[in-house]
Amino acid sequence: MAKKAFITGILGQDGPYLAKLLLEKGYKVYGLIRRYSNPNFDNLNFLGITNQVDYVEGDMNDEASLYHLIKTLLPDEVYNLAAQSFVASSFSQAKLTTEVNSLGPLFLLNAIKFFSPTTKFYQASTSEMFGLKNDDGFQDEKTPFHPRSPYGVSKVYAYWMTVNFREAYGIFASNGILFNHESPIRGKQFVTRKITDGVAKIKLGLSKELRLGNLDARRDWGYAGDYVKAMYLMLQQEKPDDFVVGTGENHSVREFVELAFKTVGISDWQKYVVIDPQFKRPAEVPDLKARADKAKKVLGWQPKVKFPELVKMMVEADLKRYQEK
Ligand code: NAP
Ligand code: GDD
Repeated sequence: MAKKAFITGILGQDGPYLAKLLLEKGYKVYGLIRRYSNPNFDNLNFLGITNQVDYVEGDMNDEASLYHLIKTLLPDEVYNLAAQSFVASSFSQAKLTTEVNSLGPLFLLNAIKFFSPTTKFYQASTSEMFGLKNDDGFQDEKTPFHPRSPYGVSKVYAYWMTVNFREAYGIFASNGILFNHESPIRGKQFVTRKITDGVAKIKLGLSKELRLGNLDARRDWGYAGDYVKAMYLMLQQEKPDDFVVGTGENHSVREFVELAFKTVGISDWQKYVVIDPQFKRPAEVPDLKARADKAKKVLGWQPKVKFPELVKMMVEADLKRYQEK
C-alpha cells in the first residue's frame, strides 16, 4: 500500500517541490486547496505534476474542514506548509496571519490527536522566529526566539504547540526551522524573486527600474528543492524532533542584486535600483545565518545548490518566461 501524505500549501513554493519528491518515492499525495473562483496551478505546472496530486478542499481557518479531512484521509504524514507567509503583510494583517499560522496548525494537531494519532506531523517553522537573536552570528536549535513581526510571533506559537502535542500526547510532531529558501517558483513579493523578475524585465527592455527597501539585510538563502528533502527526512526518523535547516552562509540583499544584474551582463546596477521607503519594515530582521549541524548529523542532510547557482537559476528562469511570452 502506498503511503499517504497530506500537504497544506500545495499551490505555494514548497508544496510543489515536496509533492514532487513524495510522488517520486511512491506516495499518494493529497493537496489542500481553498475555495477559489480560479485556483492557480502555475507552480505545479512548472514542475509537471499537476495531474498527479489529489486535491481536497478545505481552509486553515475552518477547523471542521481539517477535522473532516484528517478523519477521512487518515494520512501517514501531514506536512503543514500553508501560511500567510509574507512578513511585510503580517504587519498590516496581524489577525489573519495569526489565524492561519497559529490556529491552523493547532486545528491540524487536534485533528490528529482525535482522529488519527499515529499520523506524523511536520510544522513549517522558520528562522524568522529568531529575529534579533544573533549572538555569535549563527542560529541553531538552542538559540532563543525574539520574533520581529506578527508573522514571526505567529510561528513561535505554532512551534511551541507542535512541541506541546509531542510532549503531552506522544504525537510524532516535528518542527523544521527553515532559513530562507528560494526557487524559480518563489512568490514575486519576496525579495529574491522580485529582484530576478525585475532584472529580467530590465534586461529585455520591459522595465526601467527596480524599487527595493533595505539592501543591508542579510539572509541565509538556499534552494527550495534541497530543503523539502530535509522535511521528508524529519518524518522518517525514529523519534520526532526539531531541526534547523540552512546553508551556514549568508549574503546581503545588495549582494543578491549585484549578482543578479551581473548574470545578465549589467555591472552598473545602481542606475536601475531605486530605494523606496514603502518596502522597508516597521521592525527588521537584520542578519540570519544557520548552524545546521544537527540536520547534517542526524538527518544526513546537506544543501547542494550554492548561492551563485541559485541566483543564476532564478534569473535564467525569469528571462525564459518573458522571452517565451
Ligand atoms: P507560500 O509560497 O507563501 O505558500 C503558502 C501556501 O499557503 C499557499 O499555497 C497558500 O494558498 C496557502 N494558504 C494560505 N492561507 C491559507 C488558508 N487559509 N487555507 C489554506 N491554505 C492557505 O510559502 P512557501 O514559501 O511555500 O513556504 C511554505 C511554508 O514554509 C510556509 O508556512 C512558510 O511560512 C514556511 N517557511 C518558508 C520559508 C521560505 O523561505 N520559503 C522559510 C521558513 C519557513 P494560496 O495559494 O491559496 O494562496
Ligand atoms: N519582500 C521584499 N521586498 N523584501 C525586501 C525588499 C523588497 O522590496 N527590499 C529589501 N527587502 C528585505 C526585507 O526587508 C528582508 O530583510 C529581506 O529583504 C528578505 O525579505 P523577504 O524576501 O520578503 O523574506 P523574509 O526573510 O522577510 O521572509 C521569508 O523568509 C522567512 C524565513 O526566514 C519568508 O519566506 C518567510 O515566510 C520565511 O519564514
